[in-house]
Amino acid sequence: TSARITIVGSANLDLVATAEKLPVAGETVTGATFAQHPGGKGANQALAARRLGADVSMIARTGEGPNRDAALALLKADGVDLSGIVSDPEQQTGVALIAVDKAGENHIVVASGANACLSPGDVNIEGKPDAVLCQLEIPTACVLAAMRANSGLFAVNLAPAGPVPVELLETADLLIVNEGEAAFYGDGIHRGGGLVALTLGGQGAVLYRAGKEIARVPAFTVPVIDTTGAGDTFCGALVLALAEGREEGEALRFASAASALTVTKPGAQPSLPWREDVDAFLEDQD
Ligand code: RIB
Ligand code: NA
Repeated sequence: TSARITIVGSANLDLVATAEKLPVAGETVTGATFAQHPGGKGANQALAARRLGADVSMIARTGEGPNRDAALALLKADGVDLSGIVSDPEQQTGVALIAVDKAGENHIVVASGANACLSPGDVNIEGKPDAVLCQLEIPTACVLAAMRANSGLFAVNLAPAGPVPVELLETADLLIVNEGEAAFYGDGIHRGGGLVALTLGGQGAVLYRAGKEIARVPAFTVPVIDTTGAGDTFCGALVLALAEGREEGEALRFASAASALTVTKPGAQPSLPWREDVDAFLEDQD
């Protein structure tokens, strides 16, 4: 049977301009191309876990109307359970303005809208999932509510980095950070004795338990088109693999492979791989 995962997090509509180069403050860059995709760290992680084989439920808050439908379109198409998504007539659906350059690097500005109004009362975790995964694009109180309601693996992607209660860092079974987030939290992420996954971009990823390195994988070499959503794919894939009971080093390798496939295509959600894509990619590497 499939692993059952609940994601508590953000759902956005991503408005993406791809240009030769990213502007500096006060500069205007023309000649870009435009695309619109569903996004948001929570929704991206939900879709990643779903496409990789989990039964996924999403808890989130959106506005009403066309942006909501656009933000949830791929989650719906791929069978993520959306019954935990509240639509709030007073708020706008979250929107992310994303600029991508020709090296695949991005700048993202998020107008949180309804995501910032998710409330602990919305966080009804039902059916004892194998894992719950949160990020920091929703109020911290909701992440704490998820932590208290959870009975399986509790994972937090500390993105974007910001102040959180020490209790969260100490209690989570798995924290997932990139280099910038690791620098922001310092030793705080290793204090609880759980797992910490650190992604290093082109340098691969490392897994620690109680501050001690237990696994490391090099990055897979792939053509970089758009890195948006690569971190989210890593999170969804790692939690899925651990929820399936895979050995930690193997889970880390699986998550790195899924994440590598994501950067080879434009957009976040449209680029998320399916299980068979990742398995085939890993077989090709051996
Ligand atoms: O991690 C990528 C995501 O961050 C984008 O999809 C955007 O919506 C922002 O939330
Ligand atoms: Na991508």
